[in-house]
Amino acid sequence: MLIGQQFTKSTYEDPTVVDSFIKRNSLNPKQTELIKSFAKTIEGKRVLDLGCGPGQDSYLFAELGFEVTGLDYSAEMIRRAKIFRQIANQPRFVEGDMRHLTDYFAENSFDAIWASASLLHIQPEDLSQVLRGMTAVARNGAAVYVGLKGGSGTIVVDEDKFGKPTKREFTLWDKASFIKQTKPYG
Ligand SMILES: C[S@@+](CC[C@H](N)C(=O)[O-])C[C@H]1O[C@@H](n2cnc3c(N)ncnc32)[C@H](O)[C@@H]1O
Repeated sequence: MLIGQQFTKSTYEDPTVVDSFIKRNSLNPKQTELIKSFAKTIEGKRVLDLGCGPGQDSYLFAELGFEVTGLDYSAEMIRRAKIFRQIANQPRFVEGDMRHLTDYFAENSFDAIWASASLLHIQPEDLSQVLRGMTAVARNGAAVYVGLKGGSGTIVVDEDKFGKPTKREFTLWDKASFIKQTKPYG
């Protein structure tokens, strides 16, 4: 694991940061509408919330009637996701690294993949491995959403907005360059 991935993961493992992240990132009306409109494009029930964080999106998909699996490499995010809410159609949460999706899921396990603000932590040299895994675990013709930060290059962001100083690495993409990366995977 390269150094940027290590400090980014440590940030998302920190209980103070996760607590603050949950307070700052609770579902807003815009995200709710985005999920509802994406949901209409899904044929089938099985949704993978890739880099699910504390699981707020997973619960919304579940409430819309989907069978949801959230995956995140932060044990603390997964711990909080499991207790985020109690609903009848509880999502399932898996601790794991999205660079190794086929270690956790069989081929054709999902009808849709929702990746909101998570692939932006994948370094360019790892992106093809993630996309290959997504292609393998999703069925042919699955609906896919990827939410990224616009720009170019890999940057390190130091902030003090999550209850303590944090350091995260982001890779920024302009739409055309990202789409070019996805071309080999359909
Ligand atoms: C900015 S948060 C977004 C969380 C959630 N999807 C949302 O929209 O609120 C990024 C999430 O991606 C997760 N993440 C980053 N790299 C990952 C990786 N290689 N494998 C699994 N999860 C990863 C982090 O732990 C974090 O929870």
